[in-house]
Amino acid sequence: MLQNVSLRFLRHLAKDNLKETALSKLKHWTNQFSSNKVLEPETSAALIVAHVLNKKMFVELDSHEKQQPLTHQQIKLIDNLARKRLQKIPIQYIIKEWDFSGLTLKMRPPVFIPRPETEDLVQFVSDEILTNSATSVLHLLEVGCGSGAISLAVIKSEKIKSNKTDINFTCIDCNQSAVNLTKENMMLVDVNQTKMQAIHTDIALLPTNQMFDGIVSNPPYIPSKEMGDLQAEIYQNESHLALHGGYDGLDVVRKILDASKSVLKPGGWIWLEVDDSHPKIIPNILPEQFAFVEMREDIFGNPRFVKIIKKS
Ligand SMILES: C[S@@+](CC[C@H](N)C(=O)[O-])C[C@H]1O[C@@H](n2cnc3c(N)ncnc32)[C@H](O)[C@@H]1O
Repeated sequence: MLQNVSLRFLRHLAKDNLKETALSKLKHWTNQFSSNKVLEPETSAALIVAHVLNKKMFVELDSHEKQQPLTHQQIKLIDNLARKRLQKIPIQYIIKEWDFSGLTLKMRPPVFIPRPETEDLVQFVSDEILTNSATSVLHLLEVGCGSGAISLAVIKSEKIKSNKTDINFTCIDCNQSAVNLTKENMMLVDVNQTKMQAIHTDIALLPTNQMFDGIVSNPPYIPSKEMGDLQAEIYQNESHLALHGGYDGLDVVRKILDASKSVLKPGGWIWLEVDDSHPKIIPNILPEQFAFVEMREDIFGNPRFVKIIKKS
């Protein structure tokens, strides 16, 4: 009798599983995420379902794919990934990849996940490179490369590829996991070591035997007193080396300026992404060799980017 009941129960479960579709999973996990206060519940659920079905976005699924029964394995995988999201793990770490400036890059905790506003910095640096009429190789330094997103996006940008200017990026990060991930992403998007080198070092320890034409950085810039305001999923998962910029958020900016005294060529430029409180402060902390050129806003009108030059 008991055996019959369990068999019937199992058959019922199996039947129920067969009815699970991409759409029903999307709905189920969106509801679960919403009631558990997971950020961006629908986007999270959609990305997980799409990922398991080998698509980037849920909207890429046609109506048949959205409604056909999922396999047992697909259901298991979706549920496993979604349970991680319930624990407030960033979606980028769950699906292990993220798109940035047209590139799909590998993501792995605790390496910083590139943010959309940094795509503006890629544009500013690409434009800066194009204004340079030199025919020789431009040597550029990225401080704090994280996943390698900025340098890779600049090298791979159509603007740069179609221009004759030859560029070479030295990318440094004080976090070995970031350097490892940058190297993996270089291989993934087919950028070899003649174009870009990833080195594990702190900017304060950078050897002074090479001079650069330009420096770009999205440094850690969150002031100490604001670290506690970060969303839990950022605070608990992304490296604090990538976030915390010291008392006023400018510790690494100061280190970059200090190193630039010896490694930046006269007339060379520095493009930085910073906290919106920084563009007002930076002109007052510049060593005498440097001049503040301009501030630019992000798409929300916040002052977020600065250009500095080293006087000739
Ligand atoms: C905000 S993340 C930016 C990562 C990447 N450039 C991006 O935009 O996605 C800052 C990076 O700077 C690195 N970093 C922090 N302090 C540094 C230092 N003193 N020298 C070199 N790298 C540093 C961190 O490890 C982190 O990877």
